Amino acid sequence: MSTTVTVGLGSRSYPIRVGGWPEVEFLALLKGRRGLIVTDSTVGPLYGARCEATLREAGASVVRATVPAGESSKSMQQAMALYGSALDAGLDRKSFILALGGGMVGDLAGFVAATYLRGVEFLQVPTTLLAMVDSSVGGKTAVNLPQGKNLVGVFHQPSRVVADLSTLATLPAREYASGLAEVVKYGVIKDARLFEVLDASADKVVARDAGLLESIVATCCEIKAGVVARDERETGERAILNFGHTLGHAIEKLTEYSGWFHGEAVSVGMVFAARLSSEVRGFPAADAVRVERLLERLSLPVRPPAGLGWRAVRQAMTADKKTEQGIPRFVLSDRMGSVSYGCVVDEAAAQRVFDAMV
Ligand SMILES: NC(=O)c1ccc[n+]([C@@H]2O[C@H](COP(=O)([O-])OP(=O)(O)OC[C@H]3O[C@@H](n4cnc5c(N)ncnc54)[C@H](O)[C@@H]3O)[C@@H](O)[C@H]2O)c1
Ligand SMILES: [Zn+2]
Repeated sequence: MSTTVTVGLGSRSYPIRVGGWPEVEFLALLKGRRGLIVTDSTVGPLYGARCEATLREAGASVVRATVPAGESSKSMQQAMALYGSALDAGLDRKSFILALGGGMVGDLAGFVAATYLRGVEFLQVPTTLLAMVDSSVGGKTAVNLPQGKNLVGVFHQPSRVVADLSTLATLPAREYASGLAEVVKYGVIKDARLFEVLDASADKVVARDAGLLESIVATCCEIKAGVVARDERETGERAILNFGHTLGHAIEKLTEYSGWFHGEAVSVGMVFAARLSSEVRGFPAADAVRVERLLERLSLPVRPPAGLGWRAVRQAMTADKKTEQGIPRFVLSDRMGSVSYGCVVDEAAAQRVFDAMV
């Protein structure tokens, strides 16, 4: 069983295949071509050999490059090393680069694919839930600088995405839960039905039920694909994907990107955004409670880290790159499945909501 979602970007449109490992035909476009598989030290030993075997069966000749697992590999230094691997492997303009791993590998390999020889074909095989529903869809690539995350990057859409749900079996529980935060986000921002499904089947979701996951992941990809197709370069609507992220990014920053996973920070940010939405947008208070309860049932935190005060949070939110003129912007909801972006709120209201969460 599998579901195919298309990201509609005219001549750059591409399919995302959600389900099991695909038939060789799905990769037939790679026949007779050279490729570099980029993976990390955790994912490579688990899924590298199978990926290589399928690509060879599809008629490609491939070499594997492995970077250490962890966010610190999303760097210029690793990108440089990968350019070297691509040259050593004899990759030319007709060659391709395939990312096998989570969002870290996807962003790094995508950046190398976008820039090596001014851009070669890129494929993604996401192996974390976050990468399947978020980072592998939409064409954003990046590396981090010592000064901050994702400061250097470029848009470069893949030509194929393969989300093989069986790879989630080996994903650690916290990584899985972190991905679920983004899944809940899609329900709140665009799809009340998705939220209902998650709410009604949270136990099955936690148990990683394969059939349910296929429809959930495909729905999330469809939602993100729709947003990206309408606003590829984030000049408008794409900002709705930042629901829960204004506070989430501040929490990540204030905890120095250690200790808290992205999805965990976003979970707290979504509770804040939902409560703030009730306060200033008429989002039903009962639905804000449902959002919070669901996140809890998915093993996600719903309270800010201990000791974090409003002043520090306010300052971190103001320094975020999504800020305009020093005023934090929020994505807020008026009803389940519908949001507005770029919302400015009265600081006293934001502080009241935050203080009530501590
Ligand atoms: N490009 C975008 O639009 C976009 C969107 C969201 C996030 N991101 C980026 O994605 C990155 C985070 O992605 P992530 O959460 O997938 O982190 P990650 O890629 O670091 O993976 C998390 C951990 O899980 C391990 N892992 C991956 N797949 C596994 C599997 N199937 N079984 C066992 N272990 C596995 C990895 O080795 C790693 O240790 C960040 O760099 C973030 O900036 C990009
Ligand atoms: Zn996110």
